[in-house]
Amino acid sequence: MSFQRVMVVGAGQMGSGIAQVAAQAGCDVILQDIKEEYTERGMRTIATSLNRFVKKGQLTEEESAQILKRITPTTEIEMARNAEIVIEAATEQMAIKKEIFKKLDEFAPQQTLLATNTSSLPVTELAAVTKRPDQVIGMHFMNPVPMMKLVEVIRGLQTSDEVFQAVMNFSEELGKKPVAVQDFPGFISNRVLMPMINEAVYCLYEGVAEPQAIDEIMKLGMNHPMGPLQLADFIGLDTCLYIMEVLYDGFGDSKYRPCPLLRKYVAAGWLGKKTGRGFYVYE
Ligand code: CAA
Repeated sequence: MSFQRVMVVGAGQMGSGIAQVAAQAGCDVILQDIKEEYTERGMRTIATSLNRFVKKGQLTEEESAQILKRITPTTEIEMARNAEIVIEAATEQMAIKKEIFKKLDEFAPQQTLLATNTSSLPVTELAAVTKRPDQVIGMHFMNPVPMMKLVEVIRGLQTSDEVFQAVMNFSEELGKKPVAVQDFPGFISNRVLMPMINEAVYCLYEGVAEPQAIDEIMKLGMNHPMGPLQLADFIGLDTCLYIMEVLYDGFGDSKYRPCPLLRKYVAAGWLGKKTGRGFYVYE
């Protein structure tokens, strides 16, 4: 492996998935979050996911146990001192990410690369808060991380060619397919995906069709594995709204205006699967 010691900051859905694939690829992983209950939940998510591979015969019980052992949960960000690469997967808020990057820059060894799993925020701006902007890069994984092949690799304005190449290679070593893009709002994945989801919400808002009908059309008609409203529930409606705001602010183009119904659902706390209600109701 080009990087043996990996740290993942943030033990939520994305962070735990990234920690899992790194450990599955043979890395020693530090999984950090601000509270023990968050790292514990992250470890449970990883165990559940590994169990699915065991049930399918793709991993043995023994391998699964070894993978779990390679992951060390912690609440100390200072543990960055042991990492060769850090992948940040914290909350999608610029102020929080900047604070984390300042700390990582302080604690991580000089040669350590700092990657962010941001889904739409500018990598260039994040890099600028560190003293190593040439070693900062975006590694945008897709949810569910253990199943999805893509890593969107985002080059900040200052990212060096050497760092870019190292991260492309590392993504492949993780068993993923890296695809490189430049640093513009929403990159490619969310610049294309989110307006589609937003348009599906507009269709619902305008009464063109019911949620099930909208999703069936996109699943059966376009061969998408999930319909856009089901996918929005899965991603989280707050995240979808946030990314639409980033696109709207970043490009200043009205085609990115978030649908009022999306705003309303988020205001109601109907954030999708994670809160038990979004466009659908979950038990
Ligand atoms: N860990 C391990 N295995 C998992 C898993 C996980 N977290 N989640 C699903 N699986 C496995 C299941 O075990 C199952 O395996 P088999 O088919 O071999 O039995 C397989 O995935 C399919 O799972 P399900 O039968 O439960 O459901 P499904 O057929 O609908 O597949 C899915 C699930 C892979 C998530 C599929 O629905 C899908 O590809 N959905 C679209 C996902 C997508 O678009 N992701 C991108 C979101 S956008 C994003 O992430 C970027 C952003 O910035 C917002």
